[in-house]
Order: sequence, then C-alpha cells, then structure tokens
Amino acid sequence: MNKKVRKAVFPAGGLGTRFLPATKVIPKEMLALVDKPIIQYGVEEALASGIEHIIFVTGRGKGAMEDHFDYSFELDHTLERRGKNEILEVSRGIASMARISYVRQKEPLGLGHAVLCAKELVGDEPFAVILPDDVIDANPPCLKQMIKVFNEKQGSIIATMAVDGPAISAYGCLAGSVDKKNPRIYNCTGMVEKPKLEKAPSNQAIIGRYILTPRVFDLLEKTTPGAGGEIQLTDGILALLKKEKVYGYNFKGKRFDAGDKFGMLQATVEFALKRPEFGEKFREYLKGLGI
Ligand code: UTP
Repeated sequence: MNKKVRKAVFPAGGLGTRFLPATKVIPKEMLALVDKPIIQYGVEEALASGIEHIIFVTGRGKGAMEDHFDYSFELDHTLERRGKNEILEVSRGIASMARISYVRQKEPLGLGHAVLCAKELVGDEPFAVILPDDVIDANPPCLKQMIKVFNEKQGSIIATMAVDGPAISAYGCLAGSVDKKNPRIYNCTGMVEKPKLEKAPSNQAIIGRYILTPRVFDLLEKTTPGAGGEIQLTDGILALLKKEKVYGYNFKGKRFDAGDKFGMLQATVEFALKRPEFGEKFREYLKGLGI
C-alpha cells in the first residue's frame, strides 16, 4: 500500500438547506467568503499540505464548481485584451491549481455515501476528506498538521477542536485517551453524535477534516442508513475502529462553519480584518459602528 496521503476527497453533494434561499440555485460551496468561493479555501489548504489530486463528489446543480476550476476562455481573452494581467493571473491560477477529478453522487444519501462514491478514484491508498463548509484558518494548514501525525502513526486521523460547555451538543464528540507524548493526539475509542454535556466523553468536537485508510470503503459499503436515514461517515469510522487504530488530533488553528449563516458572518469579519488591502479600513469601519 502507498502510505503517502496524495489525494483529497471533497464531498460537495449536499443540498445546503441551512443557507436557503442563497443555495437554491448557487451551490453552497460557491458562496463567497470575502472574495473567494468557500471551496477554494479548502482546495488551497489541500495543495499547501502536499495533496496532488483533488476529487470532488458533486451532485445536481453543482456545475458552477466545475466551471470555477476550469479555464474561462472568454473571461481570460477579455482580460488579456484589456491588459488586466493581475486579474488574469488570479482567474487562470484557479484553473491550473491541481489535478481535479469529479464523481457524481446521484442522490444525497449522506456524507458516508458521498465518500464511498470516491472509492474507485482513490484506490488502495490513504486519503484525506475535506468538508468544504469547514473553513480553517491555521498556519501550518490543518491538513498539513494532520498528515504529519499520519506519517508518524500510520493510522486514520480525525481532526478535533476543544468545545467547552453545552455547545458540545452540536457536534460529534470524540472518546479516547490522550497520547502520552503529544497532548494534541487522542487514541480514539469511540465517537458520540451530539451528546448532552453530562454524557459527552470529552470536550473534543469532531470537525470536517479526516485522513482515512482505504479499508473504510469496504466498511462503508456495509454501513446501513443511520441518523436521519443517511449513510453516516461516523458509522464507517466506528466500524474501522474495530479493525485498526484511529486517532483524534486537536489541530492548531481556528475553524469556521461557513455552511451556516452565523458561521459565515464570523468568518467574513475575521478573514476581512486580515486582508492587507482593506483590513485596517474595515477595522475602523467596525469601530465606527460603536457596538
Ligand atoms: P452538511 O450536512 O453540512 O451539508 O454535510 P448539507 O447537507 O449540504 O447542508 P445542510 O445541512 O442541508 O445545510 C457536510 C458535507 O457533506 C456533503 C455536503 O455537501 C457538505 O460538504 N454531503 C452531505 C454530501 O456530499 N452528500 C450528502 O449526501 C450529504
């Protein structure tokens, strides 16, 4: 088996109902965070982490995503004619970013099912899963941190973040013991979906970054629909846990849920404040609101 993590799967076949009406026609992954579609943040993170092949799992109405990562002859030609070389570079840069493949999830049967759709394209090697809604601000990039842990442990890795108090009930929660050498690593023993605070096995909330061994595909094939009638990735990983070691990794950085209206607002403010072209101006504007 090739032990290097070279491929990243981006499940993008969901309906994005939390962001209606914006997502009625526009795929959630194409909503702009400041000036870039949220999926591009994930793609840039993957490439900065050494990923060579991006696999998008798409569904109906996601054509805009394919166009976004392709050359736009008309746009590029017009920009060239107008001498707008800087903007031309930005437009072309996206298209030349990486090797990209697409696979269709015919029906949104759940995240586990979406990952399973990538089985043939991934083959027999470990791979990353990036949920594009989860935009992460981290240096080094979150996936790069995880690949480092994978290279040491040679086992599946689930990214987590600390969530204290009742807010943990909004997440999948990791059960496990802290690694003796690295307090950011957990030896995973289980996962509990949206537990009440008193029942939560830890304060480690599972977020949208995984590195999985290919064995998970066979297990997902046998996974029956769980919560919400969907084939859950969590159920596939729980089955994997019975066969191999799985680790939690409390990454260094900040995660935003850009698939949710409030999370997108938080991400917009924080990413805008970091922009050199207008961050300072925006900070002054916010101060001026006197809130
Ligand atoms: P979400 O539950 O956050 O996405 O799934 P959703 O279903 O699109 O959104 P809401 O809850 O209705 O607003 C997490 C990720 O899994 C993908 C989604 O596209 C999203 O990136 N997903 C989910 C699939 O690819 N297929 C599915 O069947 C379900």
